[in-house]
Amino acid sequence: MKIIMLGAPGAGKGTQADMIAKKYNVPHISTGDIFRANIKNGTELGRKAKDYMDKGLLVPDSLVVDLVIDRIHEDDAKDGYVLDGFPRTIPQAEALDKALTEAGESIDYAINVDVPDENIVRRMSGRRACLKCGATYHIVYNAPKTEGVCDSCGSELVQREDDKPETVLNRLSVYHKETQPLIDYYTEKGNIKDVDGTKDLNDVFADIVAILG
Ligand code: AP5
Ligand code: MG
Ligand code: ZN
Repeated sequence: MKIIMLGAPGAGKGTQADMIAKKYNVPHISTGDIFRANIKNGTELGRKAKDYMDKGLLVPDSLVVDLVIDRIHEDDAKDGYVLDGFPRTIPQAEALDKALTEAGESIDYAINVDVPDENIVRRMSGRRACLKCGATYHIVYNAPKTEGVCDSCGSELVQREDDKPETVLNRLSVYHKETQPLIDYYTEKGNIKDVDGTKDLNDVFADIVAILG
């Protein structure tokens, strides 16, 4: 099963992608998580990505595309994957399509998690992230068992650098300009499914499972 998660920053792509990955036993591939891990480990890629991310801007396509194409061809992705945060621009979507077509493959579903901008800023301020394993929490809506500690791997939880309200507003405007056009792109391909991301996260997941089967 090959799935793409679409949706605004904070719509719940990562939260749902994680649940999909566990249920369907496919890897959760989040470009944001990959960049954050690289920043944490002080790599060259992390150094290049950090300035863009801190400002709420997209990292250039040239730093993203090959990374993802290589990742989806790794062994653990043979039976599928859930892509979270990629593609995010039309050129990224076209590059992905080209790579898939060359391999005789295609995406099964693009799931669009729909949440209005008004809800987003409130959600972001309560988000906590694990930079080690990528797990995501919310201090009210999805609290970890122990405050500040990741349930999955025991690492310390942090507030993301780009979750400051003014940066969130930037990310939303970049989303509307660069990423929202992908909704039309996948609508034309006929494999997009909308889910209402304002529901409780377990209800959102139930709606997704009803689509995926
Ligand atoms: P990325 O990490 O992908 O950030 P994003 O797209 O802005 O999305 P978020 O991770 O902020 O939100 P989410 O939809 O995953 O929501 P979450 O599940 O956490 O990218 C970060 C940056 O990296 C980009 O700005 C860019 O610079 C760069 N980048 C990454 N990919 C790139 C690419 N392909 N090209 C170029 N640049 C790229 O949920 C949010 C909060 O809400 C959490 O606290 C969660 O617990 C809570 N929540 C979730 N669901 C619900 C619910 N139903 N009800 C209540 N609360 C909920
Ligand atoms: Mg995310
Ligand atoms: Zn963790």
